[in-house]
Amino acid sequence: MMVDRVIHKGLEGVVVATNPLTSIDGQIGKLMYRGYLIGDLAEHSTYEEVVWLLLNGELPTAPQLETFRADLAANRAIPDSVIAVLRLLPPEANAMAALRTSVSALAFADLEAEDNSEAANRRKAVRLTAKLATIVAAFDRIRSGQEPIAPRADLSHAANFLYMLRGGEPDEHMAHVFDVCLTLHADHEMNASTFAGRVTASTLSDIFSAITSAIGTLKGPLHGGANSKVMEMLLQIGDPAKAETWIKDALANHQRVMGFGHRVYKVEDPRATVLRTLSRQLGERLGNTRWYEISRTVEQEVREQKGLYPNVDFYSASTYYLMGIKTDLYTPIFALSRIAGWTANLLEQYADNRLIRPDSEYTGPKERPYVPLDQR
Ligand code: CMC
Repeated sequence: MMVDRVIHKGLEGVVVATNPLTSIDGQIGKLMYRGYLIGDLAEHSTYEEVVWLLLNGELPTAPQLETFRADLAANRAIPDSVIAVLRLLPPEANAMAALRTSVSALAFADLEAEDNSEAANRRKAVRLTAKLATIVAAFDRIRSGQEPIAPRADLSHAANFLYMLRGGEPDEHMAHVFDVCLTLHADHEMNASTFAGRVTASTLSDIFSAITSAIGTLKGPLHGGANSKVMEMLLQIGDPAKAETWIKDALANHQRVMGFGHRVYKVEDPRATVLRTLSRQLGERLGNTRWYEISRTVEQEVREQKGLYPNVDFYSASTYYLMGIKTDLYTPIFALSRIAGWTANLLEQYADNRLIRPDSEYTGPKERPYVPLDQR
């Protein structure tokens, strides 16, 4: 059938909204939240500051930050009903599916779930940001036959998550590394999960439904699911001495290498630059540079042979692994950071809404008479 309209498959290059939150220049590998370079935020800021920045447009003053930290900390506990849902899940449940279901269940315990006013949505944005980390940690404890650990208000968002997950406080360096990881994943312009969330919000559905859509979208291996797949690959390679042959074979077999390539970045993803350093530093500190070394060889080969650069999911994998985090939690961790960007985007969508309803080009049969069942 002749198609006379331009079809933007994958919506590549299609601008669907204005966005005051995050800008990306994919040609030179530049990423900024509200005008601040990601490298500067990674070096000097904290996740709490970045969440405030995304939600409010400016970096917080010291009193604003103090109040915001307390607000987040006060909202960390999750309702018993969500814990009960987590207990009902099979231990082998997919971790992202568990998060998706839990966030959906969270709505039933939120008295403002169906209130779509801006003030209520801002409060829910903070509550969701506070609670996602607790859900992910509780899921992992429960599936391992352990009791969930109650959140602590005296720890940072990053340190508290590691505490709830591992049952012990992380040292300062590890908490800092995890905090930087959260900062790096907090927002990323009109990525697939953000778009999915905005599509849901554009029908004037509620914020929990929109976040549930976003989580389901982040789950896929072409998006946030890539970080877990990267670690599976590194574990499969296992030994730095085997890395070159392994990756050469994979590329010769036209395998898609997870953690490489990007729809927007044509050079290195600036988040990967920061994460490469974190992965190396953590490895050196812990006396285990095996995963970093394997990653470097893979990176070199993929760059040489395919001209592709690592994205955010490549070096985050070895970094989380060194922290003792289970591989299938990497994508939920992406989500518990990205909740900041998702909710900030949803506030934008509600503030200037237009139903997102694109077109498609019909390619099925022409009009034809209905054939009764006994004549088919
Ligand atoms: N390994 C091997 N080849 C690749 C890869 C890869 N990771 N990425 C792209 N290519 C090749 C692809 O085969 C294609 O080659 P050809 O033109 O010869 O068919 C060309 O590069 C263009 O790829 P594309 O899939 O058409 O590009 P896209 O913009 O649709 O894809 C992408 C972007 C991220 C889906 C893709 O690069 C990919 O699948 N990467 C692996 C998964 C991954 O790491 N995802 C995380 C993305 S970044 C953070 C996030 O969103 O979570």
